[in-house]
Amino acid sequence: MENHMIHYAKDQSFAVPQMNINGLIWIEGVLSAAEKLNAPIIIGTTDKNIEYLGGYDFIYQTIKNKIKAMQITVPVSIHLDHGLTVENCKSAVDAGYDSVMFDGSKLSIEENIKLTKEVVDYAHAKGVIVEGEVGAVGGEEDGLIGQVRYADIDDCIALVEQANIDTLAPALGSVHGKYQGEPNLGFEEMEILGQKIDIPLVLHGASGISNSDLQRAIDLGHAKINFNTEINISWSNQLRDTLNESEELFNPQKILKPSIGAIEKTAERIINICGANQQNKVFTQR
Ligand code: 13P
Repeated sequence: MENHMIHYAKDQSFAVPQMNINGLIWIEGVLSAAEKLNAPIIIGTTDKNIEYLGGYDFIYQTIKNKIKAMQITVPVSIHLDHGLTVENCKSAVDAGYDSVMFDGSKLSIEENIKLTKEVVDYAHAKGVIVEGEVGAVGGEEDGLIGQVRYADIDDCIALVEQANIDTLAPALGSVHGKYQGEPNLGFEEMEILGQKIDIPLVLHGASGISNSDLQRAIDLGHAKINFNTEINISWSNQLRDTLNESEELFNPQKILKPSIGAIEKTAERIINICGANQQNKVFTQR
């Protein structure tokens, strides 16, 4: 993954934010924020949502068309988050995605390595990079529910070496959705992993983690950080406020525009805490 934005971020000690989208207004909000702050970003579409988003081809082309229509000049990478099967990952690769994640969190490590490698072989042949996962990020994301299962260090090394992945998401205590209590991340494990493997780490479940813990994770090798819940909370809070202002309101633009502003503002905060602002650069591989 030479000259890839995540590789560059690791070298420069910042993280590229992955912001998941749930439709057109999310695309618009995160692109506006990236352009304003001159930041490379990753737009994530989670596999569980693909049908709702219109399918791999449709959503990929829609994001591309929106980038063109808004005359976006910063690098934007399009990523499949939590690919549920090998076939689904291949479909995203065929649609043009820049990167895919294979979610092997429910499998034995042997099966996880085998299927992740299948995705890697297919994706690499088309210049697409692959994120692997060890352990399980807990919580709920778009109806996908799971318990936290800490990543085993030896399993992480085995996945990196045997499946030849480009980035690794080790589950170390973070959860999708809202945290019950304070997040308790495995910084010691992150430190050990950083010494044993060379590829960039990916942090899932970043909404609700303090800025100082996010910075610590970046210092310990995380070069891609995923956000979904925080964006959706700010969007829905604004939407509720707007609708509560007047029962007479039915003009869609008047209802939705403030909520796009809320997405944009949250995306700006995320870009800034990841240190990705002003990191625009030409990448030959996204
Ligand atoms: P949050 O639910 O904490 O925003 O995490 C999103 C995520 O990790 C997507 O993969």
